[in-house]
Amino acid sequence: MKEQLEKIKQEALSALKSAREAADLESLRVKYLGKKGELTAVLKQMGKLSAEERPVIGQLANDVQEKLTAEIDAQKKKIEEAVLEARLEAEAVDVTIPGQARPMGHRHPMYIALEEIKDIFVGMGFTILDGPEVELAYYNFDRLNAEEGHPSRDWSDTFYFDKDSRVMLRSQTSPMQVHAMETKPLPIRILAPGRVYRKDEVDATHSPMFHQVEGMVIDKNVTMADLKGTLNAVMEQLYGPGTKTRFRPHHFPFTEPSCEMDVQCHKCGGVGCPTCKGEGWIEVLGAGMIHPKVLEMSGIDPEEYSGWAFGMGLERMAMRRFKISDLRLIFENDIRFLEQF
Ligand code: PHE
Repeated sequence: MKEQLEKIKQEALSALKSAREAADLESLRVKYLGKKGELTAVLKQMGKLSAEERPVIGQLANDVQEKLTAEIDAQKKKIEEAVLEARLEAEAVDVTIPGQARPMGHRHPMYIALEEIKDIFVGMGFTILDGPEVELAYYNFDRLNAEEGHPSRDWSDTFYFDKDSRVMLRSQTSPMQVHAMETKPLPIRILAPGRVYRKDEVDATHSPMFHQVEGMVIDKNVTMADLKGTLNAVMEQLYGPGTKTRFRPHHFPFTEPSCEMDVQCHKCGGVGCPTCKGEGWIEVLGAGMIHPKVLEMSGIDPEEYSGWAFGMGLERMAMRRFKISDLRLIFENDIRFLEQF
C-alpha cells in the first residue's frame, strides 16, 4: 500500500506540473482526490491493514492528500496569474501613441461679428432681447405706425401665413421695439438680434432670409446726438479708430426724423469700387427718433420720454468686418470659405 501511495503521489505531481488550464486541474483533482478518486480508493482499503500498519499508512495517506491539495492550489494560482498576465498584455494601451486629431468646428463668421456687436452694446448697458420670428402684423406694422395700405405691408414683399394678412414672418426686428415697450420698465436699453424675412430674389446683396440687429433706447432727454454718438462709438470699436460714417435723411413710419447710416467702404476706402457699387460708402442701418405716436400706442408719454432706435443689417456688418464681398458666401456654408475665419 505504501508503494501504491507513493506511485499515486508521483503520478499526480507530474500530471499537475504539466496542467496548463484551470479545467485540467479540476479533472486531476477529481481523478486523485474525488469521491471515486485513486487516493480515496486506497483509503477505503485501510480496514484491511493491521493495527500497527494502520497509523503509519494513515499518516502517509494524509501527507499525500495534503501535498496534492497544496500543489493543486499552487498550480491554480500560477495559471490564474498567467491568464491575467496574458490578458493585460493583449489589452495593453500605449498611451504614448499620438491620438487621431478631430477637425474642430468654430463659430460662423456672421456670429463672430454678432458676438462682438453684442459685447460692445452690453458694455454700454444694453440688455439682449429675443423674440418671435412668426409675428403678428399688428406688431410688425400697426404698432409701428405702418397702417393698412402702407406699401411695406404688400403681399409681394411679405410672407403671410393667412389670407387676412394677420400672421407673418417678421420683415424686420422693429416689432421687438414694441415688445420691449410692453414688457420692460423705463428707461429701456435693448439690443434684439434675429432673423427677418422678405420676398427678395437671391443676389450678391439680397436673400429672402437675413439678419438684423435692432437697438433701442428710451429715456428722458434722449436726442439724435445720442444716437449718432453711440453708433459712431460702436463702429470705431468694431472696425477700428477713425472709421468714417455718414448719416443721410430717410423715411420710416415709426421714426421721426429718420436716417440711414453708411460706413466708408472697406474695399476702396471711399474712392468707389464694385463692392460699394462705386459709392465709396456701404449702407448698414436705418435709424431715427422713435415717433411720438409709437410711444403713445405703447402707453409712454412722448412729452416726458423720448427715444431712438436703429436696425442694422448683420450680414453687411459681418461682410465689412471680414472683408467678404458676396452675401451668398455667408449662407452657402462652404467649408473652404468658413475655415478662413
Ligand atoms: N426696421 C427698419 C428696416 O428694416 C430699420 C429701422 C429700425 C429704422 C429702427 C429705424 C429704426 O429697414
